[in-house]
Amino acid sequence: MKFFKLKNKKYIYLKKMETTHKKIIIFYYSYHNMNTKKLLEASCANCSNVELIQLPTERTDVSGYDFIGFASGIYYLGMAKEIYEQIEKLKGLEGKHCFSIATSGMGFEKFGYYPKNYIIKKGGLFEGALSIKAYDAFGPFKLIGGINKNKPNEDDFNNTKRFIDNIVMKYENE
Ligand SMILES: Cc1cc2nc3c(=O)[nH]c(=O)nc-3n(C[C@H](O)[C@H](O)[C@H](O)COP(=O)(O)O)c2cc1C
Repeated sequence: MKFFKLKNKKYIYLKKMETTHKKIIIFYYSYHNMNTKKLLEASCANCSNVELIQLPTERTDVSGYDFIGFASGIYYLGMAKEIYEQIEKLKGLEGKHCFSIATSGMGFEKFGYYPKNYIIKKGGLFEGALSIKAYDAFGPFKLIGGINKNKPNEDDFNNTKRFIDNIVMKYENE
């Protein structure tokens, strides 16, 4: 309901992914606090054209999709190995528009770009990366009750949706 009160771009952005006829599949890995899963599920809620697939999975054929996303928490400065294994296994990635999303304690921009070269190597078109700060209670952060409490939050959900929408809308008329 909150979005209906807004007269600005947020409302328009929120409509976009829900109304496009483009098919989107996002492979994700999430285990620490389920931050990545939470972020995707909230950002893509009500988008019937978006499929969220938790890794590992038997699904390897992406030929029927227009956009392919990869999302993971950051573990010891890297995305989960399952992301790279999945990219390697995928059939039909050639020429597809791809994007990646990272959630992490530090939120460094470069984290989002980690799968870029793997995607390109498989013939995918890399369209952009997003990095989101999220709750992190790993290692020493546990002693202080974790950092980035209550994240991902609604702003993160909107930013993620906007990020995907912007990529999708660029190719809406293809
Ligand atoms: C084993 C482990 C290692 C982590 N390493 C990093 C790291 O190197 N850099 C960072 O910013 N966050 C790190 N984090 C925090 C996670 O990236 C962050 O909480 C992320 O949102 C977890 O995603 P998930 O809940 O979807 O699994 C680490 C967390 C765990 C459990």
